[in-house]
Amino acid sequence: ELGSYKHFMEKEIFEQRKAIENAIRGRLSDDQSTAVLNGLNITANELRSIDRILLCACGTAWHACLVAEYLIERYARIPVEVEYASEFRYRNPPLDKNTLVFVISQSGETIDTLEALRESKRKGFKTLAITNVVGSTIARESDGGLYQYSGKEIGVASTKAFTSQIIIMLLVALYLGRMRDLSFADGKEIVSAIKALPDLIDETLKQADVVRKIAKKYSKFPDFLFLGRLEEYPIALEGALKLKEISYIHAEGYPAAEMKHGPIALVCPECPAVIFANQGEIFQKVISNAKEIGARKGPVILITDSPDEIESGLADDVIAIPKAHDAVRTIIDTIPIQLLAYYIAVERGCDVDKPRNLAKSVTVE
Ligand code: F6R
Repeated sequence: ELGSYKHFMEKEIFEQRKAIENAIRGRLSDDQSTAVLNGLNITANELRSIDRILLCACGTAWHACLVAEYLIERYARIPVEVEYASEFRYRNPPLDKNTLVFVISQSGETIDTLEALRESKRKGFKTLAITNVVGSTIARESDGGLYQYSGKEIGVASTKAFTSQIIIMLLVALYLGRMRDLSFADGKEIVSAIKALPDLIDETLKQADVVRKIAKKYSKFPDFLFLGRLEEYPIALEGALKLKEISYIHAEGYPAAEMKHGPIALVCPECPAVIFANQGEIFQKVISNAKEIGARKGPVILITDSPDEIESGLADDVIAIPKAHDAVRTIIDTIPIQLLAYYIAVERGCDVDKPRNLAKSVTVE
């Protein structure tokens, strides 16, 4: 089943084009510039009356919820809250009656996510699910939802399921946006960005050799920082989680500007920072954050869509990614951090597909 790959994680990283194609197949309408989401089991009228959205999940799926928060708030202008499913179960937060609850779970069997779903259903909220495993408990018990169709994910560390969860939440944001104030033209731009994504994924995967060399250089380092702003902040969290899980290196994800409020104390020649610096309103801000790290002798690894605009000496290493629309950029950003964690773990001789102490799905509390 592995073909020419050494590990399932590697195979699954390289399968992301296909996974994304499967997630969007039949779910875009050019005529209406929107998404076509059969399976939600909720009428247009019901959807229009939603005032809030609550997203619940664990681990990597929780990071997908954080990205979704940016996407839904930006395109649909509906306030979103994100909760760890394990906290939601016991926290008993007050919820507005017009709240739509979404849970995200690759396996569809994570106990905390399942119990969060049951708790919100018990309170009478419409509860939808995004799952990959067809017929899983969460898929069966939710009021409706969307399957990811990512194909089986065997590596314990989630890769292709994560990027599929993001694209599906973008479809949800587009759909809800087009029912509200998102114009036909803006919807059309997002539809085109989604259609362009598979080729951009291929282009990004071509950086694998560059990332492998960087991984070799840093594989013995004891600590890493991952920094990003706006929706790249959750990808920084995901980068840190992937590295921790499979290579057992301590890593932290932070919003880049928050660094000055504490984590900058960690910066030293043994603590590299992986920083997302892509074109957009905050490009120059992130560049100054990178300079602050360099000034304290922290190695800077930049993931950027504008390598020509990076002044020499600013970064120790650069991973060039293609320019992508804001709506889909997090998916492109994710690929280099997955590859980095993977190659570092391989370099350290770790059991990549079955990291110590971890299970593919956590079915006991
Ligand atoms: C990390 C990872 C875990 C899962 C989490 C939720 O790489 O795989 O953090 O994302 O256990 O699992 P699901 O999505 O199956 O509910």
